[in-house]
Amino acid sequence: MNIKKVGILTGGGDCPGLNSVIYGIMLKAYDAGVQCVGILKGWKGFIENKTILLNIADHDDLHTEGGTLLYTSRTNPFKGATSKEEKAKELTNQFKALGIDALIAIGGDDTLGVADYMYKHANAKIVGCPKTIDNDLAGTHYTFGFWSAVQLASNAMDNLTSTARSHQRVFVVEVMGRDAGFLTMYSGISAGADIILIPETPFDFEKDVVDVLKKRVNAGYTYHIIATSEGAYPNFKSLERDFKTLSKETISKLPKDTFGNPLLAKLNISQIIVDELNLRDDLKQEFEKNDVEFECRSVVLGHTMRAGTPNSFDRILGLRFGLAAMKMVLEGNFGNMVSLQGNKIKTVPLSEGVKKKYITAENDKMELRDLLVKIRYLSKQK
Ligand code: F6P
Repeated sequence: MNIKKVGILTGGGDCPGLNSVIYGIMLKAYDAGVQCVGILKGWKGFIENKTILLNIADHDDLHTEGGTLLYTSRTNPFKGATSKEEKAKELTNQFKALGIDALIAIGGDDTLGVADYMYKHANAKIVGCPKTIDNDLAGTHYTFGFWSAVQLASNAMDNLTSTARSHQRVFVVEVMGRDAGFLTMYSGISAGADIILIPETPFDFEKDVVDVLKKRVNAGYTYHIIATSEGAYPNFKSLERDFKTLSKETISKLPKDTFGNPLLAKLNISQIIVDELNLRDDLKQEFEKNDVEFECRSVVLGHTMRAGTPNSFDRILGLRFGLAAMKMVLEGNFGNMVSLQGNKIKTVPLSEGVKKKYITAENDKMELRDLLVKIRYLSKQK
């Protein structure tokens, strides 16, 4: 396959390690005599023909830097198209205008879903690279950026314990993760959070939050950290029975992004939990009985979790993904994406890889979480 120029784009939310992937691609491309064309702002720059030439000599150690050199956006190129197939052909013709022979698309399920459609319906020469701090893509054991974000959230919760202890407070810490609970589960377990709420297991406010806090305060605990995914929500029974400030309508009326995903972060579930806790006189009394202050605060970690430089794991995974993606381009291995299987870099079809992944019931982290929450107060029963 005679490839002279390869386009690279980054789409969706940014993520530590994007620059590491770009640098990995550039290393191999330089070695193979291929020129890298950076497409700016994801699919937006692809459509609008906004590019820069990437000269590796100008970007020493790019893999150590956070964010993305190419900028990013959440642009859905199919939005408003009357025929998706025609649009896919039109997009693929855009390769000529951009002066590229092949494209490496780095993104999550939305960005790679577009790439897959273009490959299937217009035979576009596209290779994918899975990216998201959420780690919720089925085709890979880990996405780069995930472990950097886990570390940031875990550090934040570690740090919050000293102020929680000083004031005897309940901190409800909201962790990113639109649909899946990987970030909250891993950072919550790592920091020893006292309650961990994830979207995969809709919670019962009475049993999983109020009761646990009562048991903890009766066992002698004076401060508490609750880790909640931004996408965690109560089960239907609990929603109807326990909530005064949240209803099904509130959830269904949430605004959506250009791909139609509800913007769950807008719900601000950590604040809702705080508001609901503050309405519970029975809980207040339990704290007072134990001579413990009853003060609840919400902390939204939000974009701090995507900020800063990638950790070493993500730098190396990013470089490995970039190297493998460029090799796939050279081999003409299109319609597939790079993935991590165990410790090996493998390729999987884009259509498989972009499917969503969730924490399942048999995942040992589920049991760890439940034990971590329960055993601490049980073992201190007076
Ligand atoms: O999908 C990655 C992610 O970081 C989610 O965890 C979060 O819901 C979303 O991006 C936030 O996106 P934005 O930066 O557009 O607010």
